[in-house]
Amino acid sequence: MRKNIVAGNWKMNTTVPEGIELAKAVVARSAEVPAEVKLIVATPFTHLYPVAEVVKGTVVGLSAENCADHAKGAYTGEVSADMLVSAGCEYTILGHSERRQYYGETDEKLVEKTKLALGAGLKVILCVGENLDEREAGKHFDVCEAQIKNVLYNFTAEDMKSIIVAYEPVWAIGTGKTATSEQAEEIHAFIRKVVADKFGAQVADDLTILYGGSCKPSNAKELFAQPDIDGGLIGGASLKADDFIAIALAF
Ligand code: PGA
Repeated sequence: MRKNIVAGNWKMNTTVPEGIELAKAVVARSAEVPAEVKLIVATPFTHLYPVAEVVKGTVVGLSAENCADHAKGAYTGEVSADMLVSAGCEYTILGHSERRQYYGETDEKLVEKTKLALGAGLKVILCVGENLDEREAGKHFDVCEAQIKNVLYNFTAEDMKSIIVAYEPVWAIGTGKTATSEQAEEIHAFIRKVVADKFGAQVADDLTILYGGSCKPSNAKELFAQPDIDGGLIGGASLKADDFIAIALAF
């Protein structure tokens, strides 16, 4: 049941025309990727509708990078889950560490966002991960456990079918410093156990858990070879179609 997924998180990069070109380049090479590896591109809000046109009818899925914590109304500057669906999105990333760090995204808000996203029919890519201080203090297991429990324990086993987890150690994001495959694997296995404690072994076994943080063509193979690493959430290396596809070919 669990899928191999390689998702590109474009963050706040590319203009709309550049994003369309990037999506076209990913689609053009997607046939090289084995069918059991799902490709997803997560784009800025402005790019979703035109990129949806590019990926329509292809194997490439479309994700947003965030969604609002309210359904609709007077929330200037926000974009709702229903709006994402209407733009052609199937997925949304939630709880990325950059949103937790710079935009005050709390676990409480993530519960609301996840409810709204699932209610609208989106699949959620929920990000968790410790920062450098927490890693150095040996708190990485505790931090990831709390983030998983605070958000996912509010949902049902049925909801879990629409949830993907991404473990992204903050100290490895955009730093060129990748977690070793052993460091990543031990947290992935741990996250699966935390999920099993609440939902049972089958749900945990079916959960796709992605690694994110300076994942690139040169290290993807070793990471993806780990039993509990089911793919990657790729930042910098997703901005070049060739690198993104090379990562997907690492399975
Ligand atoms: P990175 O970003 O691959 O550039 O480290 C990953 C992410 O933040 O999703």
